[in-house]
Formats: sequence, structure tokens, C-alpha cells
Amino acid sequence: MLLRLLLGVLPFLGSVLSQEATEYTDPDNGITFWGLTDVVHNVTYGYVFPPLATSGPNPDEYIAELVVPLVNQWVGFAMSGSMIDSLLIAAWPNNGEIVFTTRYATVYPGPTITTLPTGTYVNATHWKWVFRCQNCTSWLGGSMDVSSTGAVPAWCVSTIPVDTPSDPGTSMVQHTDFGFYFFDFDSAHVSAAQYDNWAAGGTGGGSTTTTTATTTTTTSAPTGTATPVDYIIVGAGAGGIITADRISQAGKSVLLLERGGPSTGETGGWYQPDWAKGTNLTKFDIPGLFESMFTDPNDFWWCKDITVFAGCLIGGGTSVNGALYWVPSDSDFSTTNGWPQEWTDHAPYTAAMVARLPPTDHPSTDGLRYLEQTSVVVGELLKNQGYSNVTINNVPDSKDHIYGYSAYDFIGGQRGGVVATYLQTAEARSNFQMKIYTEVLNVIRNGSQITGVKTNDTTVPGGIYPLNPNGRVILSAGSYGSARLLFKSGIGPTARLFHENLTDMIDLVAGDPTAGPNLPPSSEWIDLPVGYNVSDNPSINLVFTHPSVNDYDNWADVFTDPPQADVEQYLANRSGMMAQASPRLNFWRAYGGTDGVTRWLQGTVRPGAASWNTSYPFNMTSTGIKSRGRLGINAALTALPLVNPWLVDPVDKTTLLQGLNDIASGISAVPNMVMITPDNTTNMVDYVNDYDPATMDSNHWIGSNIIGTTAGKAVVDVNTKVFGTNNLFVVDASIIPSLPYGNPHGTLMSAAEQAAAKILALAGGP
Ligand SMILES: Cc1cc2nc3c(=O)[nH]c(=O)nc-3n(C[C@H](O)[C@H](O)[C@H](O)COP(=O)(O)OP(=O)(O)OC[C@H]3O[C@@H](n4cnc5c(N)ncnc54)[C@H](O)[C@@H]3O)c2cc1C
Ligand SMILES: *[C@@H]1O[C@H](CO)[C@@H](O)[C@H](O)[C@H]1NC(C)=O
Ligand SMILES: *[C@@H]1O[C@H](CO)[C@@H](O)[C@H](O)[C@H]1NC(C)=O
Ligand SMILES: *[C@@H]1O[C@H](CO)[C@@H](O)[C@H](O)[C@H]1NC(C)=O
Ligand SMILES: *[C@@H]1O[C@H](CO)[C@@H](O)[C@H](O)[C@H]1NC(C)=O
Ligand SMILES: *[C@@H]1O[C@H](CO)[C@@H](O)[C@H](O)[C@H]1NC(C)=O
Ligand SMILES: *[C@@H]1O[C@H](CO)[C@@H](O)[C@H](O)[C@H]1NC(C)=O
Ligand SMILES: *[C@@H]1O[C@H](CO)[C@@H](O)[C@H](O)[C@H]1NC(C)=O
Ligand SMILES: *[C@@H]1O[C@H](CO)[C@@H](O)[C@H](O)[C@H]1NC(C)=O
Ligand SMILES: *[C@@H]1O[C@H](CO)[C@@H](O)[C@H](O)[C@H]1NC(C)=O
Ligand SMILES: *[C@@H]1O[C@H](CO)[C@@H](O)[C@H](O)[C@H]1NC(C)=O
Ligand SMILES: *[C@@H]1O[C@H](CO)[C@@H](O)[C@H](O)[C@H]1NC(C)=O
Ligand SMILES: *[C@@H]1O[C@H](CO)[C@@H](O)[C@H](O)[C@H]1NC(C)=O
Repeated sequence: MLLRLLLGVLPFLGSVLSQEATEYTDPDNGITFWGLTDVVHNVTYGYVFPPLATSGPNPDEYIAELVVPLVNQWVGFAMSGSMIDSLLIAAWPNNGEIVFTTRYATVYPGPTITTLPTGTYVNATHWKWVFRCQNCTSWLGGSMDVSSTGAVPAWCVSTIPVDTPSDPGTSMVQHTDFGFYFFDFDSAHVSAAQYDNWAAGGTGGGSTTTTTATTTTTTSAPTGTATPVDYIIVGAGAGGIITADRISQAGKSVLLLERGGPSTGETGGWYQPDWAKGTNLTKFDIPGLFESMFTDPNDFWWCKDITVFAGCLIGGGTSVNGALYWVPSDSDFSTTNGWPQEWTDHAPYTAAMVARLPPTDHPSTDGLRYLEQTSVVVGELLKNQGYSNVTINNVPDSKDHIYGYSAYDFIGGQRGGVVATYLQTAEARSNFQMKIYTEVLNVIRNGSQITGVKTNDTTVPGGIYPLNPNGRVILSAGSYGSARLLFKSGIGPTARLFHENLTDMIDLVAGDPTAGPNLPPSSEWIDLPVGYNVSDNPSINLVFTHPSVNDYDNWADVFTDPPQADVEQYLANRSGMMAQASPRLNFWRAYGGTDGVTRWLQGTVRPGAASWNTSYPFNMTSTGIKSRGRLGINAALTALPLVNPWLVDPVDKTTLLQGLNDIASGISAVPNMVMITPDNTTNMVDYVNDYDPATMDSNHWIGSNIIGTTAGKAVVDVNTKVFGTNNLFVVDASIIPSLPYGNPHGTLMSAAEQAAAKILALAGGP
């Protein structure tokens, strides 16, 4: 992968940056530099220029240094960070030496760089590079003004090593963090004699100042703002990544803000089992590690301020989910399912999605299927009950009495999904930029007009990322995350709306000492049913035994100590057990309810599972259901279900029970198959009645920002624009009005394709 430049999509104009270059003298060589030490990474960047020309062009060179704690694998800078087309100079240590590179889209040969003899080294804690850079102030497509009093260079660091450290032309993943600072280049010049001495390798004679570079928050820094963009998209999950890719493809400038960090190796992820050390495979890449998401004590990827499972990392839920992937049916986008008429022609968007991300029901790269005993046994049971065996995604509209191999969006035996596809094409565009570890706190609005977002980023003034005048914000922070962001932006239920004498969502935000002051005045609060209309598939597990089934020790040791042969096969060939998540077979059956409403039961068959310590579970979920719950926040602003959405409707429950009983009744026809949960002393009704609601969660939350045509009944309109605003949109699972037939992320990705098209087509935007 080629390094993408900073490419100033996120440049800063004018700039009040909290960080400003100051003068200091390097104790190793006595050279006076002007520069800064960035607070987060403790990397020092220093520069000194020869005098300005008295006539004619200015000298095209400078001397610079990087002083870098070892944890930073490579570091770079762009002197014209505030410009779109910036030359990047980057370096890293290799065997005690410094290797450097100049890049402008690809390796860029213009500059002549000479490492200076004194002060360049790698010691036990740092690496340090002091160098002369000639022919460095202009390049094809850009330049820097060495006399500028208000320059805004950029820095970037990466905790991921370059691929081939000995090779200046190596491929490297994108930096993991970057920032900008204010620099008065005009004051960073020394006399010609002094400069020439240092440039020739001499030391000393500089300013007697011995202060080290400091980071100051000065009131004297000029004021300004971060450069506005056309679209700010909040959240790099399924919805956000597809939307960001399609909108940047249309040429708009896009800033994708993600609160979490890297996931798969491709994104710079680092968290891997010991058995994968030495590869770039992380826990998130390896499909066979799915079950271990729920048993790993180091579970940093879950959002800690949401009480149900939600992924807070690049890819969101799609980086930690089971990746079951169903091509949506016409029913999933029907008006019966609550979609506006304008959304029912989903076919072109679904086709676009499948073209980018084809499903597979045999993810192992050798085309073989492993540990399939459960499919044989359960297939037998289902066949007896009149089910037919299909390739599920070949017949997306058939979801009655069918079964087939589980299908996924894995690619080449690794996690694929939106991160391996849409995010990669977005990242190749210079008008796209993603910023990670950046949490959006609220949108900033003036009545119905959104002007930007407030984040927890301390390197930009007020944490604010602004929009262009016609710009738009798209929330893709997930069903819980986007709902909370709306509350924190003064949009959602208030006590006033529902005429209940309680403190409702926005009132809770108002009471919070940090978030409260960021709310708009209460006269600008927008009453919408954010958090209502929530649905999730109720999920009930049945557990069976059969002598033929290998349960893979319930996947208990896959992260720490899986069978050596499986490891070797996977590492060598991306095939075998580790190339697939736990599900093996899925089946569906339709049930007409006593209320005249049809519901669909989905079965997911797994040989063993992390949460079960015996044999193989089915997990039955149902869709087409009527039950709705509500989600919201508590006084600590933690997001949580307020009203559970499972089996609230009595017919939902009787229908699910009937389905469970039908499966249970088929067991006797399959020799040696025994149901152990519920056991033979517990009847199914009691089993379901006593089922812990906390374990009914399928992680398929939808509906909290439901799409619709009527403000008050819905939160977003047919263009996914939040009612009552001019330019705030939501594109994630929260807009889906009713659960699709199957696990939802296929339907969501098609919906995101369609939403991006509708947003681009909507007049009044950038
Ligand atoms: C454990 C689990 C298993 C699942 N299994 C399957 C499955 O097998 N098949 C299937 O189809 N579906 C499955 N799902 C559901 C599927 O993953 C989700 O429906 C899908 O990820 C939702 O996408 P989204 O865009 O709505 O939000 P998400 O994917 O949740 O993405 C939201 C993103 O926004 C970021 N974010 C949130 N708040 C902020 C903020 N304030 N500032 C900046 N960034 C923010 C988050 O970090 C996250 O990256 C599963 C989900 C889970 C949790
Ligand atoms: C930061 O780096 C400098 C060298 O530039 C080193 O002296 C100092 O100890 C480091 N500070 C911290 C907090 O690590
Ligand atoms: C300076 O760099 C430019 C490209 O930016 C290149 O065309 C030119 O040859 C270089 N000049 C010298 C003297 O190396
Ligand atoms: C390594 O070099 C850095 C930068 O000059 C310095 O701050 C640090 O003290 C050195 N560490 C050791 C162990 O010498
Ligand atoms: C991961 O490593 C493999 C094999 O070394 C290589 O082919 C692949 O390009 C690497 N992927 C990334 C994203 O670096
Ligand atoms: C279903 O069909 C597939 C593909 O033809 C076949 O491999 C599999 O054995 C069948 N399953 C059952 C349970 O009949
Ligand atoms: C912002 O929030 C993210 C996660 O929510 C965190 O990782 C990051 O460190 C925070 N940034 C700052 C500057 O506090
Ligand atoms: C808010 O918008 C109104 C017009 O809609 C404008 O007059 C006013 O200046 C704006 N306020 C701010 C702070 O931008
Ligand atoms: C609700 O609050 C209003 C105003 O505070 C009060 O007049 C009314 O009696 C309350 N109603 C109930 C049922 O408590
Ligand atoms: C990988 O695949 C090749 C070709 O099929 C095979 O010869 C080799 O044995 C496999 N390696 C492992 C460790 O399974
Ligand atoms: C119930 O299950 C137990 C243990 O699994 C078994 O010993 C017993 O025979 C079963 N009873 C009936 C009536 O099937
Ligand atoms: C049921 O299986 C689906 C697909 O793997 C999963 O999304 C859901 O969380 C499971 N539910 C339970 C309770 O295990
Ligand atoms: C969503 O909730 C709102 C508020 O309770 C309600 O008016 C509306 O009818 C609900 N919509 C659906 C589809 O249930």
C-alpha cells in the first residue's frame, strides 16, 4: 500500500492552533531550531532557514530535525500542511540508521537531503534525525513561503512500521495521527554564515537560548478556524464508510471522524493472538476468532459508554461481528416494512453493494468447508419438515422453509466488509480524510442550520471542525451513538414533547456539566421521537447434542491456543477452521400469526459457541415482529435500552414459541439427536418465559432514528435528513424502520448506498 499524503484535506486556514513553534537549541549540536514538541506523542519537529534573499528568489532549503520516542515507527511532516498539495518528508529508524523518504502521491525525487553528522542517532528511548533539505521549498503542484508569518505546517506519526524499513521506497500504511501547528517562518532564519556552517556539518554558535521546544497555548496566536469541508461524517462503521466513499467519489471534500482506533491490519491494527505474531493479521482479520470477541478480557473495542455490544473502532460493528451477510430482499425495503415508497426500488443499490462486496458461503480459500457436521444433522431435521436446500443469497426473496450454508462478507479468508473495500477506495482520494480517536460531542447549530461539529480534539480551536457554507453533517454513529449525538445537539424527546412529568433526554443532557453548556438554547430544541421505535431480533438458544458433532471446544481456546494444524494451515493458506466464523447453517420459515401478521423465524446453527459450554446451539431469532422498545441515555449520558424491545407483543411470543416447538418436534426423527437446553424437565413455554432478556439481544438494533414521511412519527425524512434541520442527516442502522429478514448489515449497506445517492441528489448541498 502506498502512503497517502496528508494532502491537506484537513488543512487549517489562518489558524488558531493551540500549538505554536518556538525557538530552542539542540544540545547535541548547538543548532538553533524553531519548532515544537507535540503534546500527545512527544515528537519534536525543528527547522531553521538561511536568510531571506534581498532580491530574487529565496533560498530553497532549510535544516530540520525530528526527535522521536521509539514507539513512533515513522514520522513525517509537510511544510505546507495548509495546502492541498503538500510534499511529505518522512523517516524511520532501521538498524540504528535513519531511513528517509520524500513523497508526493508516490516517491518524489526532487529534494536533496543530507543527514548531518552530529545529533542523528538511535538510542534506547528515541530516534533522532538532523538533516539539510535542499530543493525543498517547492515541488510539482505546491510550495511553501519561507517568509510567511502565519504558516501552518502539518505533522504526522505512525505507530505502524513501514513494510520494508530498509527501503526508502517502501509501502507504508497511512499515519495513525496527525496535526497542525502555527509557525512564523519569517522569524526562523539565521545569518548566512551561521546557516552555512551548520549546513556543512558544523556545530554551535547559535542562539544561547537553551530552552527546549515547548507547547504553548498562547493568547497571542492569530485566530481562525480549521478549514471547512463539504461533508463531515461521524462514525466509520457500515453506514459511515459507504457514505463517505460514495460522497468522496462524487468529488466532495469529506472528513470522516471516528472515535475508535485501528481494527484490521490494513487499518494499522495491532491486536493479535500470539500465534499470529510476525504477520499483519489481527484479531479482527481472522474470522475464526469471532467467538473470542465475547470472552477476551482485553475487550478494548467495545464502546464503554453503551450498555449493549457496540464496536468503537474502525469498521464499527462490522469489525467485530459474525459477518453473516444476506443480500436484501424486496420485502426488506417494502412499504409494509415501513420504508417510504421512494426507497422500495433498492435493486440498483443492492447490486452496487454486491459488486463491491460479494457474499461467500465458503470463505476458506481452498473452497472447502470445515466442521460441517451440524449442517448435515440439522439439514436432515429440516428436510424432514419440508425445507429445501438453497444457496441463500441466490434467492434473497425466498425466506420460507429454506436452509443453506451460512454466508459472509469475508474476503480471501479474512474479514472483508466495508473496511477492506469501500474504505480503501475512499482513502485513495485526496478529497477524503479520516481522523481517528476523535469523538464528536455534538453538532453545532444555529437553529436549523448545522455549521460544524464539536469534538474532543484538543489540537483544533474549540475542538471544532466546520462545514463549508452549504456543507452537511451525516451522523453514522450507530443506533445508540447517533441517537445520543442528537440528544446532545438538542434534538430528541424533551419532557415538553411527551407531556410527561419526567426529565426526558435533552433535559438529562442539560443537567450534565460538560454537555449541558453545548446545547443550543431550549427555544431551538427540536422535538423528535429519537430513541423510540427501536427493534432488535429476540434471540433464543436451543442446545443439542449429536455424536457426530465436533464442537471445537466451544471455540474457547481459539485466541490463546488453537489446534496447531489449524494455525499452520491458516497462516500458510488462509484456509481451514480459522477462515470462517462459527455459524455453519442458516434457515428460515414464515409463520402467519393469529393477528394476521406474518413473522419469519431465522435459525443460525453453530458447532459450539463461546457462551455455551456444551455441544451445539441453534439460535433462533424472529423478524416481521411488532415489538418495539425504546433506547436513550441516563444521567451519566450512558446509552442504554430504556424499554426492552423483545417479545413485548404477545403474538411475537406465541409465534416464536411455535417455531421453537416445531424444531424440537423434529428431533425425534433424527437418530441420536438430543436437546439438552431446555432439558427434558423444562417445557418450552417456561423456558421462553424465564429467558433472561439481557441474553435475547441479537445486536441488531434499528429504528432509533426511524425514516418516514411525517415529522414526529419519524426522525429523518425520505432523504435521511433530520426533520427540522437544513443539513443534518443520519445514515446508519438507526434509520431502518423494521428488521429485515436476516442479520441486518447487508440491508444497511444497501440502504447506505441509496442514502448517499439521495443526499448527493438533494438540492442545496455543496
Ligand atoms: C457482536 C455483534 C455481532 C453482530 N453480528 C452480525 C452479523 O453477523 N451479521 C450482521 O448483518 N450484523 C451483525 N451485527 C450488527 C451489525 O454489525 C450492525 O448492524 C452494523 O455494524 C451497524 O452499522 P452502523 O453503521 O449503524 O453502526 P456501527 O457499525 O456501530 O458504527 C458506528 C461507528 O461510529 C463510531 N462512533 C460512535 N459514536 C461516535 C462519536 N460520537 N464520534 C465519532 N465516532 C463515533 C463508532 O466507534 C463506530 O465505529 C452484529 C453486531 C454486533 C455488535
Ligand atoms: C520527550 O522527549 C524528550 C526528548 O525530545 C525527552 O527528553 C523527554 O524525557 C520526553 N518526555 C516524556 C514525557 O517522555
Ligand atoms: C528540484 O526538484 C524539482 C522537482 O520538484 C526537480 O524537477 C528539479 O530537478 C530539482 N532540482 C535539482 C537541482 O535537484
Ligand atoms: C535518547 O535521546 C533523547 C533525545 O536526544 C534523549 O532525550 C534521551 O535522554 C536519550 N535516551 C537515552 C537513554 O540516552
Ligand atoms: C499483509 O501481509 C501480506 C503478506 O506478508 C501482504 O501480502 C499484504 O499486503 C499485507 N497487507 C497489508 C495491509 O499490509
Ligand atoms: C445442500 O446442498 C449443498 C450444495 O448442493 C450440499 O453440499 C449439501 O450437502 C446439502 N445439504 C444437505 C443437508 O442436504
Ligand atoms: C477523544 O475520545 C477518544 C475516544 O472516545 C479517545 O480515544 C481520545 O483519546 C480522546 N481525545 C482526547 C484529546 O481526549
Ligand atoms: C444564525 O442565523 C441567523 C439567520 O438565520 C443569522 O442572522 C445569525 O447571524 C446566525 N448566528 C450565528 C451565530 O451565526
Ligand atoms: C405535571 O406537571 C405540571 C406542571 O409542573 C403540574 O401542574 C401537574 O399537576 C403535573 N401532573 C402530574 C400528573 O403530576
Ligand atoms: C498450503 O497450501 C499448499 C497448496 O495447496 C499445500 O501444499 C500446503 O501443504 C498448505 N500448507 C499448509 C500448512 O496447510
Ligand atoms: C431426561 O434427561 C436425562 C439426562 O439427560 C435422562 O437421564 C432421562 O432419561 C431423560 N428423561 C426422559 C423422560 O427422556
Ligand atoms: C444469534 O446468532 C446471530 C448470528 O450469529 C447473532 O447475531 C446473535 O447475537 C446471536 N444471539 C445470541 C443470543 O447468541
Ligand atoms: C414511532 O414512534 C413515534 C413516537 O412514539 C410514533 O408516533 C410512531 O407511530 C412510531 N412509528 C412506528 C412505525 O412505530
